[in-house]
Amino acid sequence: MAQYSRISGSVGLITLSNPPVNALSAAVRQGIVDTVEKALGDPQVKSVVICGQDGIFCGGADIKEFGKNMSGPPLIPMIHTIECATKPMVAAIEGSALGGGLELALGCHYRIAHSKARLGLPEVTLGLLPAAGGSQRLPRLIGVPAALDLITTGRHVTAAEALQLGIVDQVTDHATVDAAVKFALSVAGKPLDTRRISTYPCPHVSDVDALCENVMQKVRKSAHGAIAPIACVQAVRAAATLPYTQGMEREKELMATLYTSGQARALQYSFFAQRAVSKWRIPSGARWDTSTPRPLHKVAVIGLGTMGRGITVALAQAGLPVITVETHEKQLMEAKRAVSDMLNRGAKRRGVAPPLDKISYSCNLQDLADVDLVIEAVFEDMTLKKKVFRQLSAVCKPGTLLCTNTSGLDVDQLASQSRNPELVVGMHFFAPAHVMKLLEVVYGPQSSPQAVATAMQLGKKMGKVSVAVGNCRGFVGNRMLKLYTEQASFLLEEGATPDLVDQAIEEFGFPMGVFKVSDLSGLDVGWRIRKEEKLAGLSVASGQSTRIREGRRYSPLADLLCEQGRFGQKTGRGWYQYDKPGGRVARSDPWLHHFLEEYRAQHGLVARHIDHQEVLERCLYAMINEGFRILEDGIAAGPEDIDVIYVFGYGWPRHRGGPMFYSGMVGLEKVLERLEHYYQAHPDVPHLQPCRLLRRLVARGSPPVHKWREVIKNLHSQL
Ligand code: NAI
Repeated sequence: MAQYSRISGSVGLITLSNPPVNALSAAVRQGIVDTVEKALGDPQVKSVVICGQDGIFCGGADIKEFGKNMSGPPLIPMIHTIECATKPMVAAIEGSALGGGLELALGCHYRIAHSKARLGLPEVTLGLLPAAGGSQRLPRLIGVPAALDLITTGRHVTAAEALQLGIVDQVTDHATVDAAVKFALSVAGKPLDTRRISTYPCPHVSDVDALCENVMQKVRKSAHGAIAPIACVQAVRAAATLPYTQGMEREKELMATLYTSGQARALQYSFFAQRAVSKWRIPSGARWDTSTPRPLHKVAVIGLGTMGRGITVALAQAGLPVITVETHEKQLMEAKRAVSDMLNRGAKRRGVAPPLDKISYSCNLQDLADVDLVIEAVFEDMTLKKKVFRQLSAVCKPGTLLCTNTSGLDVDQLASQSRNPELVVGMHFFAPAHVMKLLEVVYGPQSSPQAVATAMQLGKKMGKVSVAVGNCRGFVGNRMLKLYTEQASFLLEEGATPDLVDQAIEEFGFPMGVFKVSDLSGLDVGWRIRKEEKLAGLSVASGQSTRIREGRRYSPLADLLCEQGRFGQKTGRGWYQYDKPGGRVARSDPWLHHFLEEYRAQHGLVARHIDHQEVLERCLYAMINEGFRILEDGIAAGPEDIDVIYVFGYGWPRHRGGPMFYSGMVGLEKVLERLEHYYQAHPDVPHLQPCRLLRRLVARGSPPVHKWREVIKNLHSQL
């Protein structure tokens, strides 16, 4: 767990050993305590180097130990002993020094890093703060502003930036341990009084209160209710204003609050959920570790509209040669300009050359004869997509994977147009596709394990979090979203305003309320789909009540706005008003409020008081209920899949874990009781009826989320 040797005559070498990232488990901590004692007690040893095996210094605390009873030596006194040592202690940082790993390095008297190493204190992303002295030592070393930046964001820095900031003393391109040993020999016997960071005064800032307040305001705005970033500011402020020992007390208090908060649990769950979804398995029995992806040498994108452009950019940035196809030269050239601009902007930001030469442009489908995979992103029109799939099937070489970016059409129907339906899957990206992290990989009953594995691996290569889901209307994300937006519209009919609903949702932690999102993406998109589905427009059968469709409650409010040309931001009017078409700042619109009053009067609806609690329960519990149905139907393999989809694709606040995790936090019994209550009040909304799996879980005593899969399995075996 920590090996000890003596090299070059007088250097004690301590090597952390806990694959894959040398996390500071109880055994590793014990190993460090023992080997440090040995090194300090060995009269031959004049200086000590601490490094990690296999090219990684240390990835931080062992998060598998979180939530368990603490065993082994605690970190703080261990690091303190290292700092107090009378022999120079040198950290040799290769790979990464993160969290507790960097805190350990900060306890050393010197830090030597490899040029490719990355350093950071990412505790905030797990709902915590660097509580092994990191929040007190880093500001003393690099100053309050820089420490606030690193600790409140959790961002990793390169070795070069770490050198510039003063976190490390030297950067090497060569063998780090050799460089550190050489360095350790050179500093042996030198006084260490000026090397113990905890004894430093914090570098002076002219108005520390104003600085911290300023950062606090920014953090509050971007945290959307997360408490860890706020505690991080408080901890750094303590470093700037209190002596070290009192600062450590404050760090401990703040950590105790965070550690026991539901938010830390949710963020840690989210961390593991993200890893769990990459280990996909589908009902056919195919799974991640037994399916081999196809190598991809060349890929194609058809349709260079909003989505096709983003997908092309993401593919090129992942280093893949892409051939793109549009219908006409004019669209093609327009798209080429837009894609090149996006690539240039991205490259400038990242300080690399734009991969413009990875992309070729064509108006001829025949040019796709030799590609390994095609992503179709033409209009959301089944007839057109079927035609494109038939054409692709005829043009592409045998074995080419055909993927569709449809946001909700039946992937199996498209597969049936291909000669090789086993090579068809959905690759559902989210707008903007080169930015959004989520990818739903939609498999059908015929999709081959290799097709799923290839799409999942391609997503990973593109930097996406890929989740394998079954085929159904709207897949996982949009299927649940429909219930959420539907409830929001019903609430307007019953007396709420878009402002009230959005405020409740934003206070919950979503970056944007449901109506603001609708204005941003355009009300016309859903209107077109509802018209095609004959739910809206002239094709609605005469004699039907405006507020009932297909035997259930329907809100025509969005359709009515579209009929007035109110498509959202693009027309300057929607659920809100904007200063001009394309304007971004939503302002409450008296016209809309008047329109809602008239609408209610026309339909004999009496506005009632609706509070934030009801908004959240109606919108979120309806969506959660659908999530349980999705699990019941086997469309998502487990609650983690749904939660990852919502966190990475729909702005669900990460510190609330995801909708399914959240339902466990609220209490399944409570969710069930409220759904029953609302279903009774709205019997014309069948989706509010609590589903079987939710009832079953409550009957089983509401087990924690990681035990749901067993209940789901039992339910499936009984069907
Ligand atoms: P869009 O209307 O911006 O672009 C579609 C493009 O396809 C147009 O440039 C059009 O010229 C081209 N096209 C049409 N027929 C073609 C053909 N036969 N060959 C080559 N190109 C052809 O549409 P958008 O928004 O990019 O959507 C594309 C697909 O992505 C749809 O299936 C949509 O449901 C889905 N999607 C859209 C999202 C969005 O937020 N816009 C999010 C996720 C999926």
